[in-house]
Amino acid sequence: MIKFNCEGAGRPDISTLTEAIEALKTLKSKSGEGAEFTGWMELPGDYPKTEEYKAVKEVAAEIREKAQVLIVIGIGGSYLGARAAIEMLKSSRHNQEPGNPQVYFLGNGLDAFDIYQVLRLCEDKSVYVNVISKSGTTLEPALGFRIIREYMYSRYSAEECKQRIIATTDKAKGVLKGLADEVGYRTFVVPDDIGGRYSVLTPVGLLPMAAAGIDIDKVMDAAAKAQAEYSRESSDNPALLYAAVRETGYRRGKTVEIQSYPGESMRFMAEWWKQLYGESEGKGRKGIFPASCQITADLHSLGQFIQDGEPIIQESMVRFEEPAAKLEVKATEANEDGLNYVAGKDMNQVLLAAQKGTMEAHIAGGVPVMEIVLERPDEATFGEMVLFYEIACGISCYMQKVNPFNQPGVEDYKKNMFRLLGKK
Ligand code: PA5
Repeated sequence: MIKFNCEGAGRPDISTLTEAIEALKTLKSKSGEGAEFTGWMELPGDYPKTEEYKAVKEVAAEIREKAQVLIVIGIGGSYLGARAAIEMLKSSRHNQEPGNPQVYFLGNGLDAFDIYQVLRLCEDKSVYVNVISKSGTTLEPALGFRIIREYMYSRYSAEECKQRIIATTDKAKGVLKGLADEVGYRTFVVPDDIGGRYSVLTPVGLLPMAAAGIDIDKVMDAAAKAQAEYSRESSDNPALLYAAVRETGYRRGKTVEIQSYPGESMRFMAEWWKQLYGESEGKGRKGIFPASCQITADLHSLGQFIQDGEPIIQESMVRFEEPAAKLEVKATEANEDGLNYVAGKDMNQVLLAAQKGTMEAHIAGGVPVMEIVLERPDEATFGEMVLFYEIACGISCYMQKVNPFNQPGVEDYKKNMFRLLGKK
């Protein structure tokens, strides 16, 4: 289970802790704003018992057997969770690994060069597509799907495309659902009571994860246990404590939370967290701005600001107790680079020293630092992290008296973009 350490930030105020417990009660009793979108809380226990879950695993096995490339089309909550899991568990270089289908994420922007590159990489390879959009109307994935559809039909017969294109969308409404039904693509459902950024443990995230070779049974099993653990109305519940400590920081002017993470394979986990917290909390001119910092790459860019800039930052530092790989630094006879002082140490000891050193420095610089200590980068930890962050997010939002499950602010750029594109 996740360990939460708040020594570097200080214990939360008693009143904030009491508020956090009340907010958790509101979340669990489904009596707060947006409660109709809290289906994700029961999901880990219930969903694996369904026929659809079985079908997700069957289709994933088919993709693993028949595809060399899986193109996953989706944006925001419709792609970040799957990408986070795949990179955390299979590394950011998973596409170079033989034996697994390569997984490319498209439709999460409007970058023609990126689409062009992915299509080039698909040449002579067997391609499957999973298009994911709950609303079925979001422009970026819809446009991406139009382009990829054209590509698929240029390579495969209509009958084959029906087999190779899988849509994950609403059970009844939206353009994507209509299109899928008309053509006869296989479909998976994004449940009505689960919004995009809370949907990673539905087919939205599970199908690409399983297709990439992740054991989703282990993810769901750990998530179910985490759901029970992080729902406890007690001050030693790490999710509740995390929500209370960051809220205490916020009330003291720490309006930015930087999640610092231990390397490239955790980058998309931080991106998933940023989207979850940014879209859930940032409302009514309130909220903690979520940012991220890779240890140590970003210490050579953001590090200066965190240490010495405007004092608005609190930090949550993510680290593993057990690494995914070990690599010992060897001594050299001549010590030509002067690095023999690290010889005999594992790279992870060096990383740990960097993390602890950073933590000490930031605390000395007035940044409250929380620690999120994870066991190891495996399926169970991923499942635990999802529930940990989702429950803490619900608590945080209810403490700030905002609806955790809507995103009214996202519509404004869309309206302007549609006007500029001449949409009627
Ligand atoms: O969390 C959310 O609800 C959003 O980030 C959505 O996931 C995102 O906007 C994509 O929406 P859709 O799946 O409807 O295309």
